[in-house]
Amino acid sequence: MIIWLIGMSGAGKTTIGQILYQKIKTEHPNTVFLDGDMLRDVWGDHLGHDMEGRRKNAERFTRLCLMLDRQGIHVVAAILSIFPEERRKNRDIFSRYFEVFIDTPMEELVRRDSKRLYARAAAGEIKDVVGFDIPMPRTETWDMIISAPAVLEDPHVIAAKIKERL
Ligand SMILES: Nc1ncnc2c1ncn2[C@@H]1O[C@H](COP(=O)(O)OP(=O)(O)OP(=O)(O)O)[C@@H](O)[C@H]1O
Ligand SMILES: [Mg+2]
Repeated sequence: MIIWLIGMSGAGKTTIGQILYQKIKTEHPNTVFLDGDMLRDVWGDHLGHDMEGRRKNAERFTRLCLMLDRQGIHVVAAILSIFPEERRKNRDIFSRYFEVFIDTPMEELVRRDSKRLYARAAAGEIKDVVGFDIPMPRTETWDMIISAPAVLEDPHVIAAKIKERL
């Protein structure tokens, strides 16, 4: 099974994903956690964050998940995932696919700004920031959406809610 956590930068994908992964792993040791940033490091070829880099990263991410899925490995995947057509394809190719949209409001993302992406984008210092010059299409491909106020709860509570729905 592939559990696909999507959302903007700072939404909480990595934080919630790691907790969810630990919870699932206690019952299903054949589970791995894959994170978009982590895999960019694994590829090792410094893909950019422009549309082309993002698409390549997404395609590789999906192919890796498919390989693991075919070997009976469950994946908790945390990825920004801006391509609705990739997400629709996921539903066809994986043995089971559960997509969760972590829909943290923009004002909270800007308040957290853990990577200082939003401040730098607003100051015109960087481009290719989702929510600024790259849109996040709100295409309803997800199985579960967590919006405010629930998305502002403790990440352990959010992870438990996701696990209940699997
Ligand atoms: N539910 C939550 N309540 C409060 N703070 C949270 C919550 N979820 C995450 N955070 C905090 O928000 C910040 C960003 O979270 P996280 O790194 O998980 O986001 P992300 O979606 O993985 O972002 P990116 O796409 O940039 O990797 C972290 O400092 C994290 O501790
Ligand atoms: Mg992250």
